[in-house]
Amino acid sequence: MIVIVAALKGGVGKTTTTVYLSAVSGARRATTLVDADPQASAADWLEHAADEQLERVTVVEAPTERLLVKALAKIAPDDIAIIDTPPGQERVLSTAFRHADVVVVPTRVGGVETPRVEAVLDLVPAKVPVGLVFSSARTFTNDYQDARAVWAEAGVPVWGAVPERVTIAAGPGGWLSADGLDSYRSVWRRILRAGRG
Ligand SMILES: Nc1ncnc2c1ncn2[C@@H]1O[C@H](COP(=O)(O)OP(=O)(O)O)[C@@H](O)[C@H]1O
Ligand SMILES: [Mg+2]
Repeated sequence: MIVIVAALKGGVGKTTTTVYLSAVSGARRATTLVDADPQASAADWLEHAADEQLERVTVVEAPTERLLVKALAKIAPDDIAIIDTPPGQERVLSTAFRHADVVVVPTRVGGVETPRVEAVLDLVPAKVPVGLVFSSARTFTNDYQDARAVWAEAGVPVWGAVPERVTIAAGPGGWLSADGLDSYRSVWRRILRAGRG
């Protein structure tokens, strides 16, 4: 199963989402994290992480479209691959989506984010399930409730909200946050369900 984590914008939680979902998935199934961002922040994170959950995840760097297609072709049907993508690369995303079983779009709360998310949704082929994850969310705010309402009305599923936490913001410099893992576990269940159709 190929899961693409995609957004056109940087700083919305793509890499964090990819790493945490890989940790969650890797606890049960053979999991490959494919890093399609030439910045390689996910690959760097895993290289330096001491977390046991991440030790079982295989990392493949695929900084070009061609290498990405190659990497995806090597994923065994029963294995899981989670793909981190670069910002602002419509072409790379379109290519990735052609191979996707599920697409996850991390976003932040706020009116300016909506059109950016819509632009990504427009690139996803109709038959591929897609859902949103609010990263760094302040779930107790009106803005958050408003954002949920917007997407509910648009019929776009929200697979979860990951609360804003300093332990998650620590990124590669810290341990995976127990809280973060809990939130992403629940997102992962939704992804698996969507992927099974
Ligand atoms: N749940 C969260 N709580 C706090 N900070 C977060 C959370 N999720 C992501 N961040 C922070 O937001 C910033 C952008 O996240 P990142 O995953 O690097 O986004 P992208 O890959 O889309 O550029 C990073 O500094 C990251 O640590
Ligand atoms: Mg990133």
